Amino acid sequence: MGGAVSAGEDNDDLIDNLKEAQYIRTEKVEQAFRAIDRGDYYLDGYRDNAYKDLAWKHGNIHLSAPCIYSEVMEALKLQPGLSFLNLGSGTGYLSTMVGLIIGPFGVNHGVELHTDVVEYAREKLEDFIKNSDSFDKFEFCEPVFVVGNCLEISADSHQYDRIYCGAGVQKDHENYMKVLLKIGGILVMPIEDQGFALYAADPDNQDWPVLMESKNILAVSFAPLVQQSRADGEKPDTVELPSLTVRSLQDLSRVYIRRTLRDLDSEDSAGKEAVQRVPQKRKRRRCQRRRINTYVCRQPADPQMGRVRRRNTLRKSKKKWRTRRRKETSAILKSSSKRTC
Ligand SMILES: C[S@@+](CC[C@H](N)C(=O)[O-])C[C@H]1O[C@@H](n2cnc3c(N)ncnc32)[C@H](O)[C@@H]1O
Repeated sequence: MGGAVSAGEDNDDLIDNLKEAQYIRTEKVEQAFRAIDRGDYYLDGYRDNAYKDLAWKHGNIHLSAPCIYSEVMEALKLQPGLSFLNLGSGTGYLSTMVGLIIGPFGVNHGVELHTDVVEYAREKLEDFIKNSDSFDKFEFCEPVFVVGNCLEISADSHQYDRIYCGAGVQKDHENYMKVLLKIGGILVMPIEDQGFALYAADPDNQDWPVLMESKNILAVSFAPLVQQSRADGEKPDTVELPSLTVRSLQDLSRVYIRRTLRDLDSEDSAGKEAVQRVPQKRKRRRCQRRRINTYVCRQPADPQMGRVRRRNTLRKSKKKWRTRRRKETSAILKSSSKRTC
């Protein structure tokens, strides 16, 4: 399902079309979509269709249409540090995009029914972390996927700030979903054939999330959540969600070191860009400097001269230091463990 926007030639083209059609409306959502190539979530030989606004199904692997993911990402109003639960997390495409926005202090959990799909999602995540150029530009909250039926989540499970369900929810299960939501949280789910329902837990009404918006996106219909069939009296296999672990001091240090290095690197790149943008000005300054040097050489006894020479020496050593720092920064960024931060 989908087809709301025209087909793209590549990922950027697809995102341009989603932006033009107003499915993508905010910068952070756009950045997350551009950072992750939808084609990478397709099996070899099927990639040609990845940049069309169409859902894709192959065996148990199932991706929703890009226009759906855009609406969902916008509706979730993601912020750094939030906790996110993806019910029916599939290939992990959506969870990985979410991880780029909620960052290293967020929580990113997914529950998926099929073991082979969870294995596929873990492989895709590994590929993204190891091979994607855009990974270093973001602070990431790595998704953790568990196999299980998301309708059997343990009753004493923790609650989340943001929840998305990727398969059709029956009316009977609406309340079950709401229980998993924190006060002030947002829950987005497709309800039977009615389109998306967007719930927000009202902080003034402490007990219960209220329906904020119900939206029918095109004629999109979702495959329903699979329900466990079991013999009378048989106990359900309760799904335990991953635990909320406290980060180790070492882990936190890595996050801060990487953040500092990334900031330094972008400062340096910004400086470089600025210099490239005004080449004439730089040329002129170099000329001036050379003239001062000549003057200094001719009049060694002048007390002014000492100051000028010191200033020039200082400038040169600052330049050297900046070049060295840039080299060191990129070496550390390359060598530091991508996975842990
Ligand atoms: C449209 S796909 C979601 C794709 C996902 N958003 C992604 O980024 O790849 C819906 C997924 O829900 C899963 N699913 C269906 N019923 C489920 C259930 N009861 N518990 C857990 N997962 C379920 C399906 O196996 C499928 O992978």
